[in-house]
Amino acid sequence: MSSEDPSDVFDELSEMESKAIFKPKVVALVVSNSENKGPNVMTASWWMLAGYNPFRYMLAVSHGDYTHEIIEESKEFVLAAPSSEMIEALTLSGMVSNRELDKIEHLGLETVPGSEIDVPLLKNAVGNIECSVMDSFEFENCTYYFGQVEAAYVAKDGMDGRLLSLDNDILAYLGSDWDEGDTHTKSRYYAELSSDDLRRFPGDEVIEGLPEDLREKYQAED
Ligand SMILES: Cc1cc2nc3c(=O)[nH]c(=O)nc-3n(C[C@H](O)[C@H](O)[C@H](O)COP(=O)(O)O)c2cc1C
Repeated sequence: MSSEDPSDVFDELSEMESKAIFKPKVVALVVSNSENKGPNVMTASWWMLAGYNPFRYMLAVSHGDYTHEIIEESKEFVLAAPSSEMIEALTLSGMVSNRELDKIEHLGLETVPGSEIDVPLLKNAVGNIECSVMDSFEFENCTYYFGQVEAAYVAKDGMDGRLLSLDNDILAYLGSDWDEGDTHTKSRYYAELSSDDLRRFPGDEVIEGLPEDLREKYQAED
């Protein structure tokens, strides 16, 4: 084993800084709606694909969020993938609660009714996924919802085969940091991606490099 120490090889990060290394990430705009409270939108980075059968996403919602009250009532939410033109919506919806401001109205967000659930979709998003809560658990101050996919939509002509087309206005979010000119809140950073940024790596190259017995196994499987 090498006698190198991690700090000889890497720059060490704090716990908080560690979240930078899995960026860029598409941070979601979560839309919720209930009969009593009406529609709302909040920013959420704590979401993940969480199973295939039925296809589901997990979303963590803090008990202090108005969104939590709404999802507890309706058991439904939409995960919207914002476009880069929605950077202001992403920033504001992560700072301000709907208890203080009707965010959808303030931001002028255009919506379309959901097809399978009673939650609106965001018209200018790259895509929207309609979810109904199939299960949930609580841990510390969050509820972790498993949202079963009821319907999913992408912007017209937004796919390139099985891939999301990079010609979409994708918001590849990198995080926030203080800039010289900032006085009250940090600047938000994102990367501009286009189809020119797409690179291809053929998986066959990996199979060709395997030991012979394994190569035969993987070649037989396709
Ligand atoms: C980048 C970012 C990511 C966030 N991710 C989450 C999240 O995954 N879950 C959550 O409960 N709150 C998250 N928040 C905080 C909420 O968006 C914030 O508390 C919001 O004001 C809640 O709005 P509401 O009270 O109208 O529901 C995030 C905020 C930011 C800026």
